[in-house]
Amino acid sequence: MPHSLLARKSIDHLHADAEHPHGLKRTLTARDLVLLGIGGIIGTGIFVLTGRAAAANAGPAVALSFTIAAFAAAFAGLCYSEMASMIPVAGSAYTYAYATMGELIAWIIGWDLILEYLVGAATVSVGWSGYMCAFVKHVTGWTLPTAWTTSPLVWSEAHHSVQFTGAIINLPAVFITLLVTGILVVGIKESARFNSVIVVIKVAVVLLFIFAAAPFVRGENWQPFIPENTGKFGQFGFSGIMQGATMVFFAYIGFDAVSTAAQETRNPRRDLPIGILGSLAVCTVLYIAVSLILTGVVPYTELSVPHPIAVGIAATGVRWLESAVEIGAIAGLSSVMMVLLMGQPRIFFSMAHDGLLPSFAARVHKRFGTPHVTTIATGLVCAVAGGVLPIDILGELTSIGTLFAFVLVSVGVMILRLKRPDIPRAFKVPGGPYLIPILGALFSGGLMATATTHTLIRLFAWMGIGLVIYFGYSRKHSKLRPSSPR
Ligand code: ALA
Repeated sequence: MPHSLLARKSIDHLHADAEHPHGLKRTLTARDLVLLGIGGIIGTGIFVLTGRAAAANAGPAVALSFTIAAFAAAFAGLCYSEMASMIPVAGSAYTYAYATMGELIAWIIGWDLILEYLVGAATVSVGWSGYMCAFVKHVTGWTLPTAWTTSPLVWSEAHHSVQFTGAIINLPAVFITLLVTGILVVGIKESARFNSVIVVIKVAVVLLFIFAAAPFVRGENWQPFIPENTGKFGQFGFSGIMQGATMVFFAYIGFDAVSTAAQETRNPRRDLPIGILGSLAVCTVLYIAVSLILTGVVPYTELSVPHPIAVGIAATGVRWLESAVEIGAIAGLSSVMMVLLMGQPRIFFSMAHDGLLPSFAARVHKRFGTPHVTTIATGLVCAVAGGVLPIDILGELTSIGTLFAFVLVSVGVMILRLKRPDIPRAFKVPGGPYLIPILGALFSGGLMATATTHTLIRLFAWMGIGLVIYFGYSRKHSKLRPSSPR
């Protein structure tokens, strides 16, 4: 059967399913969705990368980087919602693409999403490690040895290559990854209450920082607000703001969790955009406030540390606040890792189900009922990545991978409006089929274009490996092929 016909059949089939949802109840309200979004969003981006982006790229103008990145996220979020509301099953951009745009595009998106989920989780694990070490130091006075708590590799701009730092491995990052993986194998029920508790803690910590540190802002730290470009693209000035935006874009990743709840939302047409835009708006306001206050309290040149918010709060001199911020960050980062490490194995699982990965990857654990093979494989790779790679390489790779997925999703929404106008959509992007998708593709594509050359090379290399696997293995084993050896 030709791909397009099969895709058409599968999407019609999914719609038939949606008429009789398998026990899913439409219970979520706009408020629930906003909370869900914030739960997935606030993490390493604000707690760690703000400091990096301020110190290396934008200075105090990192607040502008956050604003630009918010627009890219909002446009992409609207496109995501339309795509999600067309395919009424919980899923990722891979699932949506598979049902609507054919196998190759789905593979490209799925392979790219590994950067968002798996590499994203590794990025967060390094952030977790930084805050955990700071917390241990606070409580016990012990400084954990850097040889065992930092990455052995560092990217050297001067040498244009990876250098060894002398450290051995980032053990706390490995530890948290394996712990979360273990919990996910045994099976954890996604609990709305657990999520709301963590959301409250995270937001409380961020607000605590804003109100406690605000009186300590010194105007001279904001002078100059946009430090002059050093002569190198991306080091301060306008290009620095843009490159900073690509990096802190990471801070907005996670709102796609909202779109996957399309089936369980009472009034998706109204509530999905409220959920996505609402959570993005709340986070944008918090992020801008935090970045302004952080760069106002501590000179931006001193912010390239693993725990910048704790450094900012230290400037207030209130010791207990430091521990509170650290605990909040540790809890918040753990929940983001949980979401990312839960998403990735399910994408691998779908790919294996479709024949694009070996069938053993689609096994479900007899007792726990979880996709244990893909969960463990994801956890091991993530633990190695978080254990040896530095946070900037990981964070930039996650951001560029996600931006690329957003470009594909935006373009996909436009194409599907033209090719399949007949499919019912519970939610359509406002302003017609072109305006928002084109803005989405332009913003995300524009941010990609300002990434460092090395990040772009890494993205292309990654996608190249993906295509080799697709044409070397997946295409031959695809379930869409009648001659498939399966
Ligand atoms: N937005 C999430 C974070 O910043 C991924 O950790």
